[in-house]
Amino acid sequence: MTARTTVAVVGAGPAGLVLAHALRRAGVEATVHERLSRAELERTARAGVLEHRVVEYLRSLGLADRLTAEGERHGECEITCLGERVPVDYGALSGGVRHWVYPQQLLVRDLVAAYEEDGGTVAFESPVESVALDGDGRPVMRTAGGKLRADWAVGCDGARSTVAAALPGGADGAARRYPYDWLTVLARISRPVERIRYAVHADGFAGMMPRTADVGRFYLEVPAGEELSGWDEPRIRAELERRLALDAADPALGALLETGMLRMRGRVARRMRAGRLLLAGDAAHTVTPSGAKGLNSAVADVADLAGALAAAVRGDHGALDGYQQRRLEAAWRTQEFSDRLLELLHLPAGLPPEQREFALRLRLERIHRIARPGPEGAEFARAYAGAGELPVAGVWPPAQRTAVASRSTGR
Ligand code: PHB
Repeated sequence: MTARTTVAVVGAGPAGLVLAHALRRAGVEATVHERLSRAELERTARAGVLEHRVVEYLRSLGLADRLTAEGERHGECEITCLGERVPVDYGALSGGVRHWVYPQQLLVRDLVAAYEEDGGTVAFESPVESVALDGDGRPVMRTAGGKLRADWAVGCDGARSTVAAALPGGADGAARRYPYDWLTVLARISRPVERIRYAVHADGFAGMMPRTADVGRFYLEVPAGEELSGWDEPRIRAELERRLALDAADPALGALLETGMLRMRGRVARRMRAGRLLLAGDAAHTVTPSGAKGLNSAVADVADLAGALAAAVRGDHGALDGYQQRRLEAAWRTQEFSDRLLELLHLPAGLPPEQREFALRLRLERIHRIARPGPEGAEFARAYAGAGELPVAGVWPPAQRTAVASRSTGR
């Protein structure tokens, strides 16, 4: 049996779900296909730090009620180096722009619930297995439930995107594999993480990030390709406590709930559109976790795409013309931010031990510069917290733009 839809949204992560919502609000018919089961999707712990402008955009769609009721505002982080703890008050440095902390899996749960309330459905455990184009250049997809024909297909299906693979000539662009990985830990903690902590350390970076009142996310730099099996629990705990210099005033580490290895890479596709096939989020670009930009840039992609695609569906195909260029430029800005932060947080690969102090001292100098009021601090702070508005300009009806601007106050 062949089903038909206007827009096939492939993937029900934050990008796919927000896009489906925005299309629905614009009166565009869409289907959402997700490989995972609902339980798996809503259990997968990933990001948790949301930019100011992303939350403002979600608010404008009415999708941030729970997030803003239960999430926490964060405007300060701390970077430690050579025994110094340097607070970075990026909320003040940026002129009042702060993050929201709310775990990604809770946001996904809220987005699925809101989409269903609106009358939408997500097809879970229904991966799009392949995408081909018919004689008119329209996508034809194979799913577990049969064939699906659409006017447009949007790949929000992550780094191994089926839609990206179907772009004629491929979408592969430039990529970098970093010479280290991050061991990831989700752990019970005795009290909330009050501010993100980055530890720049001779033995490797470590990080402590907030999630909920009793759960934190931790990172440890390890050599690239390191196997998790070499890291038993006592070793992980000891290394986190040592590099982060956890003391009595810090959250105490409780049970380790989840551990993993995050292979550190950056990549940006060569293109995000071929005819009626479009890409958004990780399907088009992977950014390392440094700076917490992955989820944020995925939502920024679809904020741009939704309006343009709705216009294209109504017959204005030119509306999509600038999408790829705008979002590839944004993807490179994001890569550059994340890469620069990585450089600050890690010592150069292969640095002999006797030269580490020098490299650490240089990093401490830079940490002081970004922590100090002034142009450099302000630039870092604004990019870090996501100042301004998502670029939805020009494609949304005026009422929507007003709503975004007028709700920028409050918590
Ligand atoms: C995180 O919350 O996982 C996170 C936050 C900030 C970073 C990196 C990771 O720079």
